[in-house]
Amino acid sequence: MKHLLKLLDLSKEEITELLDLADKLKFENKHGIEHHLLKGKTLGMIFQKSSTRTRVSFETGMVQLGGYPLFLSSNDLQIGRGEPVQDTARVLSRYLDGIMIRTFAQQEVEDLAEYGSIPIINGLTDFCHPCQVLADLQTIREHKGSFDGLKMCYIGDGNNMANSLIVGGLKVGMQVAVACPKGYEPDEQVLAFAKEQGGFTLTEDPKQAAQDADVLFTDVWASMGQEGEAEKRRAVFEGIYQINDELLAAAHPDAMVQHCLPAHRGEEITAEVFEAHAQEIFDEAENRLHAQKAVLVKLLG
Ligand code: CP
Ligand code: NVA
Repeated sequence: MKHLLKLLDLSKEEITELLDLADKLKFENKHGIEHHLLKGKTLGMIFQKSSTRTRVSFETGMVQLGGYPLFLSSNDLQIGRGEPVQDTARVLSRYLDGIMIRTFAQQEVEDLAEYGSIPIINGLTDFCHPCQVLADLQTIREHKGSFDGLKMCYIGDGNNMANSLIVGGLKVGMQVAVACPKGYEPDEQVLAFAKEQGGFTLTEDPKQAAQDADVLFTDVWASMGQEGEAEKRRAVFEGIYQINDELLAAAHPDAMVQHCLPAHRGEEITAEVFEAHAQEIFDEAENRLHAQKAVLVKLLG
């Protein structure tokens, strides 16, 4: 494993190895055991979109590993003024030990990896959010013990989260059911993978997807960059694509609820469901730190 560009590139074994390492680093962190595995290493973090969790967890993770995180806002980089990513990749490869990037086009992340000579980590694109889903898988395994026999469902927009959850969930052996409105389906490449893999269902009906589910996911109706479509999307999703008590009643009685955050209460999830499952949701947010430290150690160590 040279980069983390998308979960489609990883094998089940590579994902499991990352989750095992994440658990170990979490345990050590909780017990005050220092692990300066990246002493003297520098991670550049390019952000073309806003972030709370990704920025803070990567920054803190690098510090905990004895390395140095460098926050690079695209507003301040020449990339924001049109310097090609191919050149940025080759320049930054001369200074840094790794790059984490959050941007719009997946191609930009792939180009960084192709033209640069250091590990590239995808911190969210319009296509996928692999770091988030590694943390999600860590959280599910922590709460459920294993992935064996579990059904995961995703209710909402077929966006970056849906794409990564489908791939990650199927790769570790869960059943995956997705409910999204017509015209808002997950990416074609992901659907092709899911079809080939088996254990996947796609429907427009949230109740059908949630039936007997052990883990329920949702995400915002309009992602970063889609602000202009927010009203149009609201009209499509409102009143249907929401995790609420009624939907939860269709799921397994011990079902977990997960949300990558930020959440919009009253939209994709009710305030009641969110608060009832806050422990799991904030465990999930915490695990961004541990899962990403595993990725950093694996790629930069
Ligand atoms: N879930 C997530 O990636 O959060 P941020 O946008 O705050 O980084
Ligand atoms: N789908 C959301 C996820 C945010 C972490 C977005 O892209 O804005």
